[in-house]
Amino acid sequence: MNKFFLTLIICVCAVLKLSAQTEWVVPAEHQGKLSPVQFTESMQQSGADIFAAQCQVCHGMPGQGNYNAMLVPSPGDPAAQKFQSNTDGAIFYKVSEGRATMPSFKSALSKADIWNVISYVRSFNASYVQETAEKIETNIPEGTLLALGLRYDEIKKMVEVSLTGSLNQVTNPVGGVGIKLEAKRYFGNLPLGDIKTTNKEGLAYFSWDGTLPGDSLGNVHLIAQVEQVEAYGEVKAEQTLPIGLVNDKPALNKERAMWNTVDKAPLWIIFGFTGAVATAWFFIFYLLFQVKRIFVLGKEPITEEEKII
Ligand code: HEC
Repeated sequence: MNKFFLTLIICVCAVLKLSAQTEWVVPAEHQGKLSPVQFTESMQQSGADIFAAQCQVCHGMPGQGNYNAMLVPSPGDPAAQKFQSNTDGAIFYKVSEGRATMPSFKSALSKADIWNVISYVRSFNASYVQETAEKIETNIPEGTLLALGLRYDEIKKMVEVSLTGSLNQVTNPVGGVGIKLEAKRYFGNLPLGDIKTTNKEGLAYFSWDGTLPGDSLGNVHLIAQVEQVEAYGEVKAEQTLPIGLVNDKPALNKERAMWNTVDKAPLWIIFGFTGAVATAWFFIFYLLFQVKRIFVLGKEPITEEEKII
């Protein structure tokens, strides 16, 4: 029996270790994330400081191969091919989220600081050419009217949100603006994935696996919104699309339920409830009436006969 448990424990440990060493998969929507600005010398400088303070203990000096070899999985040298073959978006994701002994820096470092570290790490890769997200939004002329469109792309299996701006009857796509997508639920709205930035064509794509339950026809009500309301005002698009799971359970407000309206309550509940309330009020008034009678009786003059008692 002991041997059995020992083997079991060894197996579990082996599986855990194996799973920890598997490829670190970065979700597709994070792969293509790009720095909003071109890396500069000063970004590299502050990146170097952050790296020395936060990363060097485990990753060593880039290019020196002096990373902490005791760690499993290996942190690796940031100048090495394995590390550098990550896209900028993948590095951003890995640094933000962390895994196993690699800490998550989401709350310790600002987004700008993570880009600074990436710019520093990239300076050790001679063949690296930076791609930046275009900040077209800064070019939106005053008075432009923004409008959002929402549709499902059958081929890409993604929800496509398009942002356009019109000025003097000319409509152009607007890139570089953050868009959030939500699905309407009974109690509030459910955010679907992270905020996406529109590309040069003014389009943002949200992956859609079709596992979100819809109504009895599989309809889901989607709401796309421009994220920075302070900067652009409230720009919204709503659409009901038949792309959810068909849900044959009765809707919460269809059948009888505690929060339902009176027109769905059965007769006996209506009569029972009204009867109970009426009886309670009857006794309250009856008691008040009796109290009044005592009060009135107390005021009447007392007869000789009554005095004897
Ligand atoms: C406590 C040790 C530790 C610290 C501190 C640390 N890392 Fe890591 N890092 C790791 C380990 C271990 C891995 C391998 C994780 C895995 O594969 O599951 C890793 C992996 C990574 C990867 C993925 C490498 C690849 O080949 O895909 C990146 C990128 C990374 N670290 C960046 C950083 C940055 C930037 C910092 C500092 C802000 C940092 N790390 C701080 C231990 C650390």
